[in-house]
Amino acid sequence: MKVNVFFSPANVDELFFSGKTTVVIDVLRATTVITTALHNGAREVIPVNTVDFAMKVSGSAFGGQTILGGERNTKMIEGFNIGNSPLEYNAETVAGKSIILYTTNGSKAVVKAKFSENLFVCCFNNLSAIVKHLFNLDKDFLILCAGNSGAFSLEDTICAGRLVNDMLEINSSIEISDSAKAAVALNKTFGKNILKMLKESEHGQLLIQNGFADDLTYCANVDSIDIIPYYSTGVIKKMIVQ
Ligand code: MLT
Repeated sequence: MKVNVFFSPANVDELFFSGKTTVVIDVLRATTVITTALHNGAREVIPVNTVDFAMKVSGSAFGGQTILGGERNTKMIEGFNIGNSPLEYNAETVAGKSIILYTTNGSKAVVKAKFSENLFVCCFNNLSAIVKHLFNLDKDFLILCAGNSGAFSLEDTICAGRLVNDMLEINSSIEISDSAKAAVALNKTFGKNILKMLKESEHGQLLIQNGFADDLTYCANVDSIDIIPYYSTGVIKKMIVQ
């Protein structure tokens, strides 16, 4: 098995993902939101890469079963129902609903990887569920960090490094790329205290300034959720593992 890590989606195009197994990570906060929403009973999450498309999809939906969620500059978008704090995606709000999600980096990263043969969504909260599933799947895979507007983001890389590290602990013969080795090394340095790392990261600082400090505590909660969000034909659903 070979494992690769992309620190951001900037240097790959959509077709690159054809036939690949991909894991998208956006710890702060899109993939944590997706995992939380599905865990709390959302029917599905529909990731979109523009606000216009989000509006269009919600316009064509019917029956009041749709929620528009997401953020611009970390804040709720005008005309949307909820923002991008995982704390908003509780069972009362999301159970049985289809959530159309637009975010600055995370939803776009998922959409970019849409041609993958297998496409999973990961964060610290469901890390072990993803590790276990990838091990059983036994296929080469790549981790796509959502990053920050095309640039590197520490928290996504640390989560990727921990995923690779945990895979290596189960199977030390996995072949890992240079970028995967770098992610593992960074996890050794910064991953001992996840909450501290999130608080000190650039995006973590911005979220604290904007009043979302509690989100960091939630996003640092390793293995609190045992589900595998899986993308297929435009929607992300909770995977039923046999
Ligand atoms: C993103 O997609 O860039 C993030 O989820 C931003 C955030 O809500 O903090």
